[in-house]
Amino acid sequence: MPKATHAIGEPDAFLPDSTSDVNDVPRLSRFHDYSDRYVDKNIEWVDPYLEELTELAFDYLGVTSAFELINRKRTTSIDFDNPATRKLCEDNPGVRNWLSTIPTALSLELLTNQDDPPIGTTWSEPTKVLGRNCADGIGVRARESVAGDVLQDEISRVANTNRSPKILSLACGAARAVIQVASRHRQNGIVTDLSLVDTDWQSLGRARELARKEGQQIQVFRRNIVDLEGFQRYHTLNQSSVALMISDLKTLHLPNYGHLPNLDVITPGSYDIVDVLGFFEYLKNVETFPFHYDKVFGNRGELMQAGAPRFLSMAWEMVQPGGVLLIGNMNRSNSRTGQPRKQLGVTLGVIQWPHIQPRDEPEVLDILQSATTLELVDRRTIQSITVHKTITCDTEDDIYNIYEFRKSE
Ligand SMILES: C[S@@+](CC[C@H](N)C(=O)[O-])C[C@H]1O[C@@H](n2cnc3c(N)ncnc32)[C@H](O)[C@@H]1O
Repeated sequence: MPKATHAIGEPDAFLPDSTSDVNDVPRLSRFHDYSDRYVDKNIEWVDPYLEELTELAFDYLGVTSAFELINRKRTTSIDFDNPATRKLCEDNPGVRNWLSTIPTALSLELLTNQDDPPIGTTWSEPTKVLGRNCADGIGVRARESVAGDVLQDEISRVANTNRSPKILSLACGAARAVIQVASRHRQNGIVTDLSLVDTDWQSLGRARELARKEGQQIQVFRRNIVDLEGFQRYHTLNQSSVALMISDLKTLHLPNYGHLPNLDVITPGSYDIVDVLGFFEYLKNVETFPFHYDKVFGNRGELMQAGAPRFLSMAWEMVQPGGVLLIGNMNRSNSRTGQPRKQLGVTLGVIQWPHIQPRDEPEVLDILQSATTLELVDRRTIQSITVHKTITCDTEDDIYNIYEFRKSE
């Protein structure tokens, strides 16, 4: 597949100051036009087909708008009694297998990386057509492309000060954008220190494969990034880190994904760029929330984990003065019409992507506000906020925003 391209627009304007804490931070919006080369003529039937499935799902779920599906209580992660989900699977062989990989990073690869499927993956042609032409596919590719350009600018900025840029990618998945950008810079003599963190060995294994192909050095860390005790070090021997360490050891025999647990340290306050894409929309708007675990040393129990404002502060703590935190969030509505963004009903009602908290800009800024109000983040450390918005020609909608928070020097 050819690489997707986009052009960057100029920042539109500084928003006026207001009395509210976080609204006083200089904020600008930056629009990125994105034209997707993966979309093909099938979009002509994919769009109405997905609309028809959405109507079926709405009837079944008794709702009239995708907004009503946000925070819907569920008893199973994917309900196959839902006639829309069933029809999607019956019409398109292979989709059911793909649904079973959601929400791991491997499921994203259908949308971003059809040329190089993960080992053992068989995507049927109908599944691939949907991956190329659905709004989420376009949105995820646009996000990856925009993130690549923001990373590119930041790496150049740091390299111009004669330092090696340090990047920490949290919930990195296959880490395609960071690895590719770092590797491009290496060809120009700029060596980037790249640390990748995820709970999932398969994703870290994919990142390793790509890094090897690109000749890029990386360090991988298997950590739970919402661990309230912090994710910097393994030696915080609470239940969740012990569980992760044991499952690391269990994977050692696997040729592709087996790696010794990394006992290095993730150093707070030392990264020029911390990126967290495709993760923030899984966190609830609460400071902490209980996670129920089963069968850790044969025990069941409850661990408190970070919700969105607390996680924001944990990620912010990793950024060094002058550096940036990049956080992505799936949008809730079309920024011009206020209506649900394109195919939100497909994501929530047909695919039934679990745990998703789509948010618009004010809601993401409310979380930052909560983090400052709770004194988790010191408002004075935030120098500026740039909101990167992507309107794609194929969807005429913005599916994801990327929020760039810059730390004061
Ligand atoms: C949708 S993927 C996003 C991957 C990548 N950042 C991207 O934009 O392509 C979400 C990733 O979050 C990881 N993840 C989920 N919960 C996590 C946790 N508690 N700690 C660390 N990683 C986690 C998953 O394993 C998955 O790789």
